[in-house]
Amino acid sequence: MKSVVYITRKIFPEAIDIIGKVAEIKLWESESAIPYGTLLEQVREIDGLLCMLSDKVDAAVLDAAPRLKVVSNYAVGYDNINVAKATEKGIPVGNTPGVLSETTADLAFALRMAAARRIAEADRYTRNGLWKTTANPGLMIGQDVHHSTLGIIGMGRIGAEMARRGKGFQMHVLYHNRNRRQDIERELGVEYVATLPELLSRSDFVSLHVPLTEDTRKLIGAAELAMMKPTAILVNTARGQVVDQKALYQALKSGKIAAAGIDVYEVEPVAADDPLLTLDNVVFAPHIGSASLATRTKMAVMAAENLVAGLQGKKLPNCVNPEVYKWGKG
Ligand code: GLV
Ligand code: GLV
Repeated sequence: MKSVVYITRKIFPEAIDIIGKVAEIKLWESESAIPYGTLLEQVREIDGLLCMLSDKVDAAVLDAAPRLKVVSNYAVGYDNINVAKATEKGIPVGNTPGVLSETTADLAFALRMAAARRIAEADRYTRNGLWKTTANPGLMIGQDVHHSTLGIIGMGRIGAEMARRGKGFQMHVLYHNRNRRQDIERELGVEYVATLPELLSRSDFVSLHVPLTEDTRKLIGAAELAMMKPTAILVNTARGQVVDQKALYQALKSGKIAAAGIDVYEVEPVAADDPLLTLDNVVFAPHIGSASLATRTKMAVMAAENLVAGLQGKKLPNCVNPEVYKWGKG
């Protein structure tokens, strides 16, 4: 009997082709995320699940799916999935690392530049016909990006791509990470900073590149924001919950820090009436770090390949819980 898979969002045809060769596909066709209750219902008789960050794959979903052989996340992060529970059930979980690192770093850098040079504000100003005098020396004064100090929190693949971009702009690059990365220090000439307070107090621009875990939840709160320079810019393309969003609003509103570039939010989509959205010194994006055509296509293909490998009982090319192959029935 052909395996049955459920895909929780329309994905690129390249991926559908790969999956369609080995399985019957059920698809959530809507533009909005599949409701949790529907997901719970749909997983009952499927062998594989290809899901998005917006889908909560918790213990109840995994328990409702007795046939499930693989969960393939269309993302590098997997904080939406109860991986411990999947491992306990011998279900491998796939993700899409590597292919999106440069694309995500491009967006983080774009947000840094936009915040420093007030691009979004300047766009609104020009577009709205507010520009009345030319050659005004005080108009839209921003900060230099080149030769500033960049502080990277989380030196994984995306953090390393960020460091590379900083070096291209002659920045002094600091980083803080659980493990010291002497390989990256040697390759890129970046400086390891042992404590978070030191990194925060020395950086002109702080960029977050950590996964969301119990250790990183609210890593940046009021106390941490207070350690930053009043001229500093915070960029978050990692996970909204790494920052205390209310404290960030306060810090930006009161001028404790100068500006921010934000792609991710505590709750997504961010509420239209969230006070954060009223601030002029913030550049916003709707969680689009990996959103280039080339990268999103590669991610879809990777997610499809993980899914197919799982259905066929093969090791997933990119597996976040490889211990299933040692201990589980995997
Ligand atoms: C995006 O946030 C991802 O984890 O891929
Ligand atoms: C993601 O690819 C990371 O390791 O930063």
